[in-house]
Formats: sequence, C-alpha cells, structure tokens
Amino acid sequence: MGASLIILAAGQGTRMQSDMPKVLHRVAHAPLLAHAMQAGAALEPERVVVVAGHGAEAVEAAVAEIDDSAQVVFQEDRLGTGHAVLQARAALEGATGDAIVLYGDTPFIRPETLAAMLDARAAHGVVVLGFEPADPARYGRLVMNGESLEEIVEYKDASAEQRAIGLCNSGVICADAAELFTLLDEVTDDNAAGEYYLTDIVAIARARGLSCGVVRCAEEETMGVNSRADLAAAEAAFQARKRAEALENGVTLTAPETVHFAWDTWIGRDASVEPYVVFGPGVTVETGAEIRAFSHLEGCHVSSGAQVGPYARLRPGAELGNNAKVGNFCEVKNAEIGEGAKVNHLSYIGDATVGEATNIGAGTITCNYDGVFKHHTEIGARAFIGSNTMLVAPVRVGDEAMTGSGSVITSDVEAGALALGRAKQVVKPGLARKMFEKLKAAKAAKVKDKS
Ligand code: UD1
Ligand code: CA
Repeated sequence: MGASLIILAAGQGTRMQSDMPKVLHRVAHAPLLAHAMQAGAALEPERVVVVAGHGAEAVEAAVAEIDDSAQVVFQEDRLGTGHAVLQARAALEGATGDAIVLYGDTPFIRPETLAAMLDARAAHGVVVLGFEPADPARYGRLVMNGESLEEIVEYKDASAEQRAIGLCNSGVICADAAELFTLLDEVTDDNAAGEYYLTDIVAIARARGLSCGVVRCAEEETMGVNSRADLAAAEAAFQARKRAEALENGVTLTAPETVHFAWDTWIGRDASVEPYVVFGPGVTVETGAEIRAFSHLEGCHVSSGAQVGPYARLRPGAELGNNAKVGNFCEVKNAEIGEGAKVNHLSYIGDATVGEATNIGAGTITCNYDGVFKHHTEIGARAFIGSNTMLVAPVRVGDEAMTGSGSVITSDVEAGALALGRAKQVVKPGLARKMFEKLKAAKAAKVKDKS
C-alpha cells in the first residue's frame, strides 16, 4: 500500500524578484520542485499531486517533464496551506494508504526521513516532521506532552510561552489520505493570519482522540528557498553534499570545493576529477576515468579509463569509449569516440563516429553544419586524420585510412587510402632572400625621404 504525495507549489515567491514561479528555480540544474518530488519518489508513491497556483501553466509543463504520471491541481486563491491541501481532494479520491504533504520550495528532505514518518504512522494518526532550528524565528511551534504532539501553534498566534518552544514544524505532515481531508473539513480561518492552516489538523485529530507524533530531522533537510540568496545557499548545500558523497563512493577530487555537480551526475569508483570541473546534467563517468582541470561536461558518457581535458568540452551526445582521450581545447558533441581513440588538441568533433584507436590530429574540424542542416562524419578504426583536416560532412573515412595535414575532405575516403585535399607545394630557390633585399631597400628609401 504505497503512500501518496501532495506537493504544495502555489506560492508566488515574491522575494525571488522573478517572473518565474519560485519552485521552477533550479538547484544543480533541476527545478526545486523536482528535488522535492525526487525525495518522495523513493517511496514509490501511489499518486503524486502537485498543487499549483502562481505560474500554474509553467509548473504544469515542468511537472510533466519530471513525472508524467503526477497530477497537477490548481489553487485559485491562496488561502493557506490547509486550503492548498484541500485542492488535492478530488485527485486523491479513492487513494488507499497515507498522504504526505511536502513543499515544492523545500528541496532537501531525505527519503529516509519520509520513510521514518510512514513507519511512525503505525503508532499515530498524524505524524509531523519537526526540527530544532538554531533560530526558531517565525516557524510554527510543536506543543508536546511527553512524546505526544498536542497542537501546532503558528508564530503569529503563539503566546510568549509557546514562542519559547525550540521544536518547530518543518511543514511535512503525514496522515491517512482519506482522514486527512475529513480533518481539514474542520479547519477554519479564524486566526491571526486569516488563513486555513494545515497545521490545525493536529489539534482537531487530538480532539477526535487520535494520537499525533513527531519525527525529528536535521535543520539542513528543512531548508526552504524564499530568495535568490536562499537559492545560492541551497546550491552550496547541494554541492557540499554531492562532493562528500563522491568522496565517500571512492572518487578522487583533488580540490572538491571547486567541482560543480548536477543533480544526476554519476561518477564511478576510482575515477578522478581535477580542480574546476563543471558537470551539467546527464553525465556518467565510469570507473578509473580521469577528468582533468577546467573541463565542462554535459549530457555525455565517459567510459572506463578514458581521459578528458584539461580544458575539454563534452556536449550532449558525446560518448567516449574505454581509454579514449579528448584533450585540451577540444569540443565533442553528439559523437562517439571509439575505444582508445585520441582527439588530443584543438579539435571540434560533432555529429560523428570515430572508430577505435583512430588518431585525430590537432585542429581537425568536422564541418557538420551547412547553415541549414547538420550532417554526419564517419571515421573508421585505426585511421589517422592529419592535423588541420576539414571533414566536410556528410563524409566517410574508412578503416586504416589517412588524410594529409591541411586537407579539406569533401568526398569519401576508402579504407586504407591516403587522401590529400590541398594545394601542391611550390618551392622557388633563392626567391625569399631576393624579396627580403627588395623590401629592405624600399624601407631604407622611405626613411631617407622623411629625414
Ligand atoms: C508554514 C507552516 C509553519 C511551518 C513553516 C515551515 C502553516 C500554517 N504553517 O508556515 O508551521 O513552520 O511552514 O516552513 O502551514 N502554499 C500554497 N498555497 C497557500 C499557502 C501556501 O501552495 O495557500 C505553499 C507555499 O508556496 C509554500 C508552502 O505552502 O511552499 C508553505 O507556505 P508558507 O506561506 O511559506 O507557510 P509559512 O507561513 O512559512
Ligand atoms: Ca515559508
């Protein structure tokens, strides 16, 4: 019996100073909302309902990309967290099991924490995720009686005595899905904010004789994003965690604080990453690969033992085979670099296939774009592409073929052939010396004229 998720994402996020809904701002290249949904996804939820309001169309489009089985419901007027959850009622009609309420702007709740909340439901009708912040500020306070949660009091409504409580409400709440809505039916907006507080369901549950409990988590998990400064802090927190995770998994990072990961970066054991490497989304690096300093990778796969950089750029669709090398100032896009093949200096390889053990000389360019269409370049195995070869796609170079340096290759080269596509060299003995003499004499005459 899987739980269902209700993710609140209707808030405007005024303090972001943005035209974009707050939950679509990104941490490690994924929207805040995707982080929240990902934490819940580990529970294999029966249903996922996102409550959208501000910028609902954009939120809906993003949700479709993150999880196309998730439902999006609309909260027209934002009358409080309780009112927001009520918008999910129809979408959860007939759902068996528990519902967990999460906030779309709170990206770091751990799946283990949510699992602990579900476990705690065995003993309690309502389970709330609590934490003890360094500064309790304006959080809702959890009023306990021993291990029993009696009520949640919002800061605005709290007495001085209640404000002195250090245990606060993270916002994450879990209850039986059907019961959650019958509890919410009793919530009113009779409070300091004039809002329908989700938090009121605790006192209502207690009045019904249901027991309520608290699961505690670290403050880091409950970090919410309300401003650009918070967003930057969330990014820093994510990076710190991801770096620690990489080190723990057996990845060498020579200067961890300079390496930037995306939410889904995957790096195998015994791979090493030098300083100032940036991973965009969709990168996998296999065991023993070496990513050297100042490289930028996104949407690519680096196989075991391959070497990238320093100063390399791997763009989406770059596929490096085992022990392949892509060196300094090279760009590879939508191209397969075969096992042991080398693209070592100053080259652009795009929309291409490079066979195993082929050597691509310095300054080689696949001319893949004709201004309208993109075309493919195919290079076989054990071929040798001379420096500064222009491969005008579509074009094929066979196995064990060679191209002469500086060639412009416009037609296919068969296996084993040498292709030369450049002007023939002409040498005129003594002519350089004569030219120099003439030019120097002309300069001397000019200087004399002026004086
Ligand atoms: C809420 C809790 C408070 C808790 C705090 C933790 C209530 C009444 N209070 O307070 O106990 O300590 O979170 O951060 O629940 N939202 C909607 N629609 C609405 C109202 C809110 O979608 O009508 C969303 C917001 O976008 C946000 C979340 O719900 O993601 C929380 O709302 P917010 O107004 O920030 O609640 P707080 O006053 O901070
Ligand atoms: Ca808040």
